[in-house]
Amino acid sequence: MSPATLPAKYDVLPSPLDYSALAAEELVERIERRKRELKAVILGHNYQRTEIQEVSDYLGDSLGLSQEAASTDADTIVFCGVHFMAETAKVLSPEKRVLMPDLRAGCPMADFVTGTALRNLIDQHPDAVVVAYVNSTAEVKALADICVTSSNAVAIVDTIPRDTPILFVPDKNLADYVAEKTGRDNIIAWEGYCYVHDDMVLDELERAKAKHPEAKVVVHPEARRELLEAADFVTSTSGMVALAEEHDALIFGTERGLVDRMKQRFPEKTMIPLSGAAICGNMKLNTLAKLAWCLDHEEHEVVLPEDVRAAAAASLERMLELSGGWKAPTEEEAELEAAGVRPRGCGCA
Ligand code: 13P
Ligand code: SF4
Repeated sequence: MSPATLPAKYDVLPSPLDYSALAAEELVERIERRKRELKAVILGHNYQRTEIQEVSDYLGDSLGLSQEAASTDADTIVFCGVHFMAETAKVLSPEKRVLMPDLRAGCPMADFVTGTALRNLIDQHPDAVVVAYVNSTAEVKALADICVTSSNAVAIVDTIPRDTPILFVPDKNLADYVAEKTGRDNIIAWEGYCYVHDDMVLDELERAKAKHPEAKVVVHPEARRELLEAADFVTSTSGMVALAEEHDALIFGTERGLVDRMKQRFPEKTMIPLSGAAICGNMKLNTLAKLAWCLDHEEHEVVLPEDVRAAAAASLERMLELSGGWKAPTEEEAELEAAGVRPRGCGCA
């Protein structure tokens, strides 16, 4: 842009593309200013681009983010994550406006199961308890008895009477992990999966281990069983951040964005991605330019029919009740908090 066509400071521009022509520092300035004007809070998932993480008021895994969404006193929640996470915020904070920078940021795993398909399965197993991984639509959560996240799934399933069958949707890998950890043989799993984690293979893990024999291996429970069995730790994204604080060398079986942040944060440590190809394109749809546009235009708003919202709230609130309890901030969280960002660790049961 020539100086004559440069927009006046803080002019509202028509499209995200116009914002992408601005310098990162100006975008950050605009985001901070607009956030204050709207009394908005930015919630960011651990897989977001580093620059989005830096402007987030809260940073965390699905459980931490849903706890924040339930407790924030902001008027507007801007969700930098994927669609089911923003829906969860709306379900738990119906009086607040929830905005997303890009509505196309969905989770392909969540889309594996629809309300209609789940209703059919429930009809075939009327006595089963329905457990929905939070990576699911509000419509699916509304049909569930209880929700779980990667950090509390084992503990929550353990509270369900052992002789009661369970329908677990939509992640077959997480269902398998939970079945193995709880010793249950009555979990009927949906055939869904996360393409980012399910694509990671043992070969890659073995190659990374051969190159870094001193490193411990941590894998997200959305990965396949053979990877989980070869791992030293299986945990959620916030669990991985906590492990990075304790260990000098780690191989991460999860999305690359988190590993890149750990590398930046601990340049002296060995922080290695299990797979260089593990990138969630959906999470990466959110950019600083779209975030600045979203705040200026107060779009895209996430809305839900009240009956669906209320039913989904019941399953989410049941989960939050069982996952309550404050957890001390990790070192990184404490530092970010001191710098004005307040990430929330998981408070799993
Ligand atoms: P966490 O809850 O562990 O952050 O996982 C969410 C997710 O989408 C992982 O793919
Ligand atoms: Fe969904 Fe997988 Fe992306 Fe997580 S990493 S948001 S489960 S597609």
